[in-house]
Amino acid sequence: MFEKESIPFAPMLIESMRSLGYSFESAIADIIDNSISAKASKIELFLPPGENPYLIIFDNGTGMDAKEIEEAMRYGSKNPLDRRTKNDLGRFGLGLKSASLSQCRKLTVVSKKNNKVAAFSWDLDYIKSSQSWNIIGYDIDEIKKLPRIELFDNVDSGTYVLLQEFDRVKSSAKDLSRTITENMIKTEEHLSLVFHRYLEGKVSIYINNLKIEPKDPFLTKHKKTQSKREQSFTIDGSKIKVKPYILPYINYLTKEDIKKVGSKERLRNEQGFYIYRNKRLIIWGTWFRMETKGELSKLARIRVDIPNSLDYMWNIDIKKSSANLPDKIKNNLYNCIKESVVSSEAVHQYRGRKQKENEDITYIWDRIKTRDGYEYKINRKIPQIELLKDSLDEKQFSLLEKTLVYIENNFPVNALYLDATKGDISQNKEKVEEDSEIEQLYNDVLMQIEFGKEYGMSKKEIIKLFMISEPYCNYKRLMVKLEGMLNDE
Ligand SMILES: Nc1ncnc2c1ncn2[C@@H]1O[C@H](COP(=O)(O)OP(=O)(O)OP(=O)(O)O)[C@@H](O)[C@H]1O
Ligand SMILES: [Mg+2]
Repeated sequence: MFEKESIPFAPMLIESMRSLGYSFESAIADIIDNSISAKASKIELFLPPGENPYLIIFDNGTGMDAKEIEEAMRYGSKNPLDRRTKNDLGRFGLGLKSASLSQCRKLTVVSKKNNKVAAFSWDLDYIKSSQSWNIIGYDIDEIKKLPRIELFDNVDSGTYVLLQEFDRVKSSAKDLSRTITENMIKTEEHLSLVFHRYLEGKVSIYINNLKIEPKDPFLTKHKKTQSKREQSFTIDGSKIKVKPYILPYINYLTKEDIKKVGSKERLRNEQGFYIYRNKRLIIWGTWFRMETKGELSKLARIRVDIPNSLDYMWNIDIKKSSANLPDKIKNNLYNCIKESVVSSEAVHQYRGRKQKENEDITYIWDRIKTRDGYEYKINRKIPQIELLKDSLDEKQFSLLEKTLVYIENNFPVNALYLDATKGDISQNKEKVEEDSEIEQLYNDVLMQIEFGKEYGMSKKEIIKLFMISEPYCNYKRLMVKLEGMLNDE
């Protein structure tokens, strides 16, 4: 037996390392992880418009001296098996390089520490031509020529990461600058969620001078969000904390709230566990196949905090965007799911039991039995609303929904009660079918028929819908007219 050194071939290995599967936003998040680990309180992203876009990620963290940057640039600069400090978001000694170069061909890192600034680059074209693992160092005059390098003037220490030559984006985009701007919009959304707990605390992130707002997936500030008791369990000497939240029923959410949870669809699809590693969100909206994403459990979201000391156990990947929870952890989480799902069900059922006089009629008002009595809600299934639904865009529909909720919440219960006790409510009296009223309702149906036709509904279908809906079904003479129309069809 003998041994022989087998050195990786730089241009090829470095090219392969670009394909770890980073998305644009997960790559940026990985670079920001380093800034947070370096205790930065302000992280600024700059993406100037132009034909040759570049991206700067600048932080006011502890910074690095020349030797440290050199070390940071090395692939595998840290041992993944080493114990990391409690607040370190790193693990593999790869992120800075692999995330940056997954998107572009040139990475330059400039850092300031002890009043000295130093810089090094990885340049894939240079690696290709030199066929070596050489990084490029810069002298102070060269550093001064870098874009926005004056950012360092205002900090005692910090790090500047410059990404240039976005070939990965380029190859799939017609208009590079526009595509990168679109990517940045996605990035903003991603960062506001994955770092929301930092953004709610002492860290701020800016994109082109605009501050990113945290996106709290639990809507903890909403007064109808139920936060459940935090539980914890210990695995291999490390504590895992679990805190379930039950989000408010959708009707209680404003447009702003829905924006915070993404959309109505995401409210349903992103139920489940939210796994944080050192307060940084890694995976979310999954039950790890423990519970189906059923309608009933859609409001349950469970915050799970896992310390980095357990990284080895849940196979966290280099991108920090996927992981596998071992059965040991899953089993412990299961009890928490049970509790949350049951509560989530309760929120639904509590809203749900409709009291109907006649199952065949579509009433305008639903009378709903609640824990404390009865609630009246406008039935969203009446044909007028169903038809409108097809023609309104998401924004208009949410406005309509808001208006309906507003009407429901301002139902004049007291006045109605007084009038009813006095016998002044007209509906209690024998209904007189005025000609003009019938004419108006009839025209209304004709209009809705025209309207519905545009959305592919047949005349017959629409007439039938109205014949079983309030107020139309309460007018005998109107029913005869509509019946006649049906027979003519
Ligand atoms: N913005 C920064 N400020 C200070 N030090 C940094 C910064 N970025 C990187 N470093 C240093 O460079 C090292 C290498 O970073 P890199 O992201 O490649 O690996 P990591 O963070 O250690 O692990 P991972 O691969 O999991 O991200 C870091 O451990 C850190 O010491
Ligand atoms: Mg890192």
